Amino acid sequence: MKYKTLKGLQDILPPEVSIWQHIEATARDIFRAYGYQEIRLPILESTDIFVRSIGETSDIVEKEMYTFQDKGGRSVTLRPEGTASFVRAYVEHHLYNNPAPQKYYYMGPMFRYERPQAYRYRQFYQIGAEAMGVEDPKLDAEIISMLTKILSGIGLAGLNFEITSIGCKKCRPAYRDALKNFLREKLNSFCSDCQRRFDVNPLRILDCKVPDCVSIRQGSPPVIDYLCAECKEHFESLKHHVILLKVPHTINPNLVRGLDYYNKTAFEVTSESLGAQKAVAAGGRYDGLVDEFGGPPTPGIGFAIGMERIIPLIKDSVNKTEGPDLFICTLGEKTTEEAFLLAEQLRSQGIMVEMNYELHSLKSQMRKADRIGARNVISIGEDEIKKGLIVIKDMGSKKETEIGFYAAELIKIIRENK
Ligand code: HAM
Repeated sequence: MKYKTLKGLQDILPPEVSIWQHIEATARDIFRAYGYQEIRLPILESTDIFVRSIGETSDIVEKEMYTFQDKGGRSVTLRPEGTASFVRAYVEHHLYNNPAPQKYYYMGPMFRYERPQAYRYRQFYQIGAEAMGVEDPKLDAEIISMLTKILSGIGLAGLNFEITSIGCKKCRPAYRDALKNFLREKLNSFCSDCQRRFDVNPLRILDCKVPDCVSIRQGSPPVIDYLCAECKEHFESLKHHVILLKVPHTINPNLVRGLDYYNKTAFEVTSESLGAQKAVAAGGRYDGLVDEFGGPPTPGIGFAIGMERIIPLIKDSVNKTEGPDLFICTLGEKTTEEAFLLAEQLRSQGIMVEMNYELHSLKSQMRKADRIGARNVISIGEDEIKKGLIVIKDMGSKKETEIGFYAAELIKIIRENK
């Protein structure tokens, strides 16, 4: 029988894993500078958490969730995104009692049962950030600036940063009416999902991916024209502060987010090199979500970066394979034991060591050292042990140096050869 990964899932193997680690390490450094702390959340949550926050009529909840009953008969869901789980934890652990803004980040897999295609997976990884307790648009500008720093720190260039405001509960009724008036005449041409959403949640029609719906809704009024005084002021201040922080961006009044919890600031970062799935990161403000989860009214804003969308953009520019600092060839049973002990001794000093475990010819051991990209090689024979001297070969320059056969001497020269 042949086993394979499930459709839309993938194994991430070395050496590609080192690109993931590079991205994660860069993000961690930048998060630290901005005062974000890591939070680790379960992958499985009560289904309600996502229905309530992402929205009953969203594509994610209607079509894409991995939902099932556990053995106790509870409806549980593999998280399709991180914000809902985060807000659940924020309320559950009273994190709002800490001084604001409370800033957190997370990294991990999300699950959406979407049709797999290039850069769209059913299990995909996000790096997300959430900042709570501050309504001031300076925080919005700061988190947007932090996101650009992470993306450029990773080595990405040529991205479009699009920003808009999608208003709040107060401005939404007027906008809903305007949108419905625009859509009403064309309603029969929309897909059945959109027709159903017209009365329940017409804003979701703007997010439908069916090509016919996308073209029929062209020219619909932008929400930005219907902002209340408070949202307008918030948006003006946001624009001022992103300019102050010199964040390259454009204002896109047609930007739509696929999750219901957003209000005011919304943003998306796209790359034209990715075709249809061009969003590499996205986020926005969600000021009503904490109350929705039973916590005190608390504003929040955040974003998530899609790992599988940024990896292909930097794949060629990152040095992928890290070979060992030293490969130890052995000649005979007795020397293998000597090598075994030496390897442990060097590793405890942080030197990356590989050795030959079985009895192979010196030629095949040298070939292996070369294949795995070892930076230095030594061969231990009975002679070397007897004389207390060893030859270390720098595989880059091919230079050979005879040194005393001691761990300290080896470490010194390995560090010099770097
Ligand atoms: P989202 O726009 O649904 O937002 O997802 C964020 C990013 O995840 C997308 O821009 C994309 O890069 C990546 N992504 C989404 N679906 C897939 C997929 N099927 N395959 C590969 N990558 C994908 C959220 O998830 C919000 N929780 C972000 C947020 C945090 N808003 C506030 N805080």
